[in-house]
Amino acid sequence: MDFADFLHTHPIFDVIARQAAARSVRAYVIGGFVRDLMLKRPSKDIDIVCLGSGIELAEAVGRELKVPVTVFKNFGTAMLRTDWEPDSTAIDANRAPGWEVEFVGARKESYRAESRKPIVEDGTLEDDQNRRDFTINAMGISLNAEDFGQLIDPFDGQNDLRRKTIRTPLSPVLTFSDDPLRMMRAIRFAAQLGFDIEPDTFEAIAAMKDRLQIVSRERITDELNKIILSRQPSYGFKLLYHAGLLDFIFPELLALKGVETIEGKGHKDNFYHTLQVLDNVAERSDDLWLRWAALLHDIAKPATKRFDPKVGWTFHGHEDLGSRQVPGIFRQMKLPLNEKMRFVRKLVRLHLRPIALVKEQITDSALRRLLIEAGDDLEALMTLCRADITSKNYDRVKKHLANFDKVERKLKELDERDKLRNFQPVITGELIMETFGLKPSKEVGHIKTAVREAILEGTVANSFEAAIPYMIEEGRKLGLVPVKDPALALESLSQRGQDTSDSNL
Ligand code: CTP
Repeated sequence: MDFADFLHTHPIFDVIARQAAARSVRAYVIGGFVRDLMLKRPSKDIDIVCLGSGIELAEAVGRELKVPVTVFKNFGTAMLRTDWEPDSTAIDANRAPGWEVEFVGARKESYRAESRKPIVEDGTLEDDQNRRDFTINAMGISLNAEDFGQLIDPFDGQNDLRRKTIRTPLSPVLTFSDDPLRMMRAIRFAAQLGFDIEPDTFEAIAAMKDRLQIVSRERITDELNKIILSRQPSYGFKLLYHAGLLDFIFPELLALKGVETIEGKGHKDNFYHTLQVLDNVAERSDDLWLRWAALLHDIAKPATKRFDPKVGWTFHGHEDLGSRQVPGIFRQMKLPLNEKMRFVRKLVRLHLRPIALVKEQITDSALRRLLIEAGDDLEALMTLCRADITSKNYDRVKKHLANFDKVERKLKELDERDKLRNFQPVITGELIMETFGLKPSKEVGHIKTAVREAILEGTVANSFEAAIPYMIEEGRKLGLVPVKDPALALESLSQRGQDTSDSNL
């Protein structure tokens, strides 16, 4: 690859080269950008290392481009955004808007953007490359007139790219001691790029695994999410397992491992099953949270495992217990405790429901309930359920999938007919209280449930005309008499600004 030609196609490099020359400092494109350029992989940012002040160079470039520069004094770095879009075929041309360019002075000590220590000692380019994480991340391209476009690759990273190998530039013990997160990064790059980890590097990870405990959970989870988002995440998880890192970062997943046998009956290894489900989901969806749902769908199997001499191994209620474990795991992992978590919890809770529908005679009411509970997440749930079929028996898989098609067709028909998605019952607790002159009480709940059940069963339509008479009838059964015309009750509620559609089914 002719790097000089490539650099000339992007004005940012010429501007940096010109400004560096004007200040007599040497500048190089370095790290992930060079790696991704050689792999023809979209790259999100450009790192520039210079022999001198990165901040001053960034400010000069910012002035010429008339773009603002953000300075991180403590880290000795500065950042700006180009506002033109890259257009090379080697780089993702659709990525807008522009690139993030980070400038740093070459340093003697370890490269660590997150380090709180101020940068004290300037170094040579070689010093800087020595202290980077992997050979494939330590390559530089010169932006200097005398050797513009030349690749500077002291550790033969180019060959490691060709051999698909992750290897540290210096001794792995030294490189990992500088920043133990790099142990996770090694596995993350292996997973993202489909590379092997060189044996000495891998052995050092296994030996130094406990050092990961000094790294913040956020940074670990960041890497874990990148593994989960890779093309075949099981590979990354198997590396984490074999290196011994899983024990610390995700013990609940590790607990799924192993097969117990009683009276000659074994169950499947739920760790490998889960990884297979995760890969299956990954083939169908890029959604991080759907992938998390796959990882956690059977998480409560160890806690619910029982042996019954008649039926063998059972895991009754693992979907409910599992969904209850989701918030704790999210909290521990420093994952968001928002609607993403609720989505994962919901999918874990519902993951057996479509399978149960395949087995039973499908009734409209069972389908309706699933439709309502899954709401907008029905497609995601069906993706998870299809992925959950991991039998090695091809005919069985085919049969299951065909049954799923049938369930899905019926759900669609029912959805179109009843418009029940994200269903809210028209009869609310407030309306019941207003009509019968009740305070919050058991009776209110009873009537509300009765109306909701009738709507789900399909005997009453989800409309005021149909549901109000049913509500009155249910009240009568409890010996209650309306104190107000329900139409008037409805009106006064809406005047008071009451939300007449409460959502807690
Ligand atoms: N780096 C390092 N050690 C770290 C983090 C980063 O040596 N713990 C160096 C590597 O040379 C890396 C560069 O800093 O290439 C940029 O880091 P980062 O942006 O985190 O990673 P990229 O390699 O760019 O990859 P990605 O964007 O996929 O994270």
